[in-house]
Amino acid sequence: MARVISVSNHKGGVGKTTLVANLGFALARNFKILLIDLDPQANLSSGLGFENCEENIEKYFKEVIHFRLPEVNPYTINSYIDIIPGKIDLIKIENQLHDTLRAEFVLKEILLPLKSKYDLIIIDCPPSFNLLTINALHSSNLILIPAKPEIFSIHGVDHIINFANENAIPFKVIFNQVNIRSILHKETIQNTKQQYNGNQMNHTIRNTVVLAEAFENAQNIFSYKSESLGANDFVELADELLPFL
Ligand SMILES: Nc1ncnc2c1ncn2[C@@H]1O[C@H](COP(=O)(O)OP(=O)(O)OP(=O)(O)O)[C@@H](O)[C@H]1O
Ligand SMILES: [Mg+2]
Repeated sequence: MARVISVSNHKGGVGKTTLVANLGFALARNFKILLIDLDPQANLSSGLGFENCEENIEKYFKEVIHFRLPEVNPYTINSYIDIIPGKIDLIKIENQLHDTLRAEFVLKEILLPLKSKYDLIIIDCPPSFNLLTINALHSSNLILIPAKPEIFSIHGVDHIINFANENAIPFKVIFNQVNIRSILHKETIQNTKQQYNGNQMNHTIRNTVVLAEAFENAQNIFSYKSESLGANDFVELADELLPFL
């Protein structure tokens, strides 16, 4: 049975999509993975070359909302990773969910038949704490919260941590875009260790231009530059996560 991981932080631009894509490929060494793009911006989908796809998560939400059982057909990226792309119309779905019974659990229903086919399902969440995000979190066995080691980014984390604690879902904070020469970054990472009480990953993702370049070229870091700081950081992070999966 697949375990479900949501990557969420209601702050924008903290590396959610970068984390889903590259961690997904790093974990594909050990697991059969399904990626889901639940963000109306659909950056994960376009970043991996899946734009304007007929099969997408918005279609499946619509079917469940209208009391139909969706036939879910993910796209194959390679033998180890599949994807269900996103779509801009997910914004409309978010509105419709406000009038839907059990609105927080629609995604859970979509995922049910997929769980026997994968080891891990990794969901890229939108940069807000809306009903789409709540659907992802309610489906999750683990929540990963990427954050920049800066005070405003860290404030965005509290909301999700509270949700995780209230619903007894384990979570891990992952610092991204870390500048190893910045004393401020070092101090922030050190200071938050106690605050997150063992729920902060020791490995961080450095700020490195290859990660941005890879995504702009619709590639993951391993196909773009497997011998790079970015690839190395994601392998180490994936290894540290293994015991929690
Ligand atoms: N470690 C990193 N080093 C360099 N650039 C990075 C790193 N992580 C992310 N980026 C870049 O920062 C930008 C934002 O990253 P990303 O899109 O993953 O964030 P996000 O949290 O998904 O954003 P949104 O909230 O809009 O969905 C992108 O251009 C990405 O390439
Ligand atoms: Mg994103």
